[in-house]
Amino acid sequence: MEEQGKRRLRRVVLVPGPFQGHINPMLQLGSILHSNGFSITVVHTQYNSPDPSTHPDFSFLPLPDSSSALTGEFIPFALQLNINSEARFKECLAGVMRQLGPGDGIACIIYDEIMYFSQAAAMDLKLPSIVLRTGCAAISLTRDVLFQLSAEGHIPFPESKSNDPVPELYPLRFKDLPIMEKLENFLQLLSKASNIGTSSAIIYNTIDCLENSSLAKVQQQCQVPTFAIGPMHRFASASYSSLLEEDSSCLAWLDKQSSSSVIYVSLGSSTYMDAKELVEMAWGLANSQQPFLWVVRPGSVFGAEWIEVLPESFKKNIDERGYIVKWAPQKKILSHSAVGGFLSHCGWNSTLESICEGIPMICRPCYGDQGVNTRYISHIWRVGMELEGELERDEIERAIRKLMVDEEGKEMRMRGKNLKERIEVCTKEDGSSYNSLKELIKMIMSC
Ligand code: UDX
Repeated sequence: MEEQGKRRLRRVVLVPGPFQGHINPMLQLGSILHSNGFSITVVHTQYNSPDPSTHPDFSFLPLPDSSSALTGEFIPFALQLNINSEARFKECLAGVMRQLGPGDGIACIIYDEIMYFSQAAAMDLKLPSIVLRTGCAAISLTRDVLFQLSAEGHIPFPESKSNDPVPELYPLRFKDLPIMEKLENFLQLLSKASNIGTSSAIIYNTIDCLENSSLAKVQQQCQVPTFAIGPMHRFASASYSSLLEEDSSCLAWLDKQSSSSVIYVSLGSSTYMDAKELVEMAWGLANSQQPFLWVVRPGSVFGAEWIEVLPESFKKNIDERGYIVKWAPQKKILSHSAVGGFLSHCGWNSTLESICEGIPMICRPCYGDQGVNTRYISHIWRVGMELEGELERDEIERAIRKLMVDEEGKEMRMRGKNLKERIEVCTKEDGSSYNSLKELIKMIMSC
């Protein structure tokens, strides 16, 4: 959508969750709104602070005293962050409002659902708010079922039930449900994040052609409009928000590989493995005989700084056939013609980025929503397959060969290409995401 004149519209305040997979979509949304004329202020925690120089047209405001890092478990961290931040956020907003001239006020607050303190603060200051859900729509539908299962005493469920289908949530099995440790805290966070309070709309970074029926159900459940405006990285292609430095040298290496030959491996910004699993992954990649580009985040292997635990024999074996980096320009990689498959943890951003490029996936979900995403990838859109069980070299090798060489992989690639084309239609003029975005902008303008 076009840049509108020079006169800026009113200000939108964005409150991203302090994690890579949450910051990316929020800043993409900021770029979209900015290119449609809105002024943007990002209120963020000091922990995992986005780099203001990446978005020079935005104002960035750190929440005071919000530097405490995630050192233990995620759920208590998120609960505490919300308790600590409401009053500080209110002060922050009051400051912004004082500085803005008359007629230049805040149009609305858009907050990540895990930053639900924003809604309470906005309500107190009589400002409109909209919630951004950074995951897929299907994830929202699991929540009522989780509350119900828990109330009936069915969580934790016995191992024998893990492969059973969850009633009303096809194609999910019990083991795909996004259940996290310390059930009581988890459900508390879930219930607070799901309660949109007085917010006037919900934004999803998803696409009607992927999640038509889940979106319809969410719309039925919520009493407010829902806007499916994904894939936002397509509407905001220049938005850059990596917390780690990207190593772009891998692009030159990719240039030397033949078309669709490379398997790209990345388990996202917040998964961990032990040294044994790293070694198994290494040999699985080496033995597959496919060229591979592998992201190993520093600190993501327990007890190791980076890849020093990999044996010399592996390093000699792969020679020029493999390339390992600490953090990569993932969107550029997935759109590179040399890449033919993605071994992923299936965070929602990675899932969308891969599907939009028609790249089939080997899914290795680790926690949270990743199991649900995996199930949709493998059983609904059928553009990937799950790598289950222990991480073992033979299984990894087999999965890579299946995806990159075998007939089954070719069929997934064909379906992926089809899906990519359907997604492109959704983002073009009069496509579902395009229209939804237009409606959202209209709504914010009328706030
Ligand atoms: C987390 C959860 O893991 C995920 O399940 C949830 O949906 C969002 O929050 P994360 O682990 O960060 O997300 O994964 P994902 O959602 O895939 O986001 C990762 C982002 O980092 C993607 O946008 C990806 O392009 C980017 N990335 C990843 C890089 O830029 N470089 C890399 O090397 C790896």
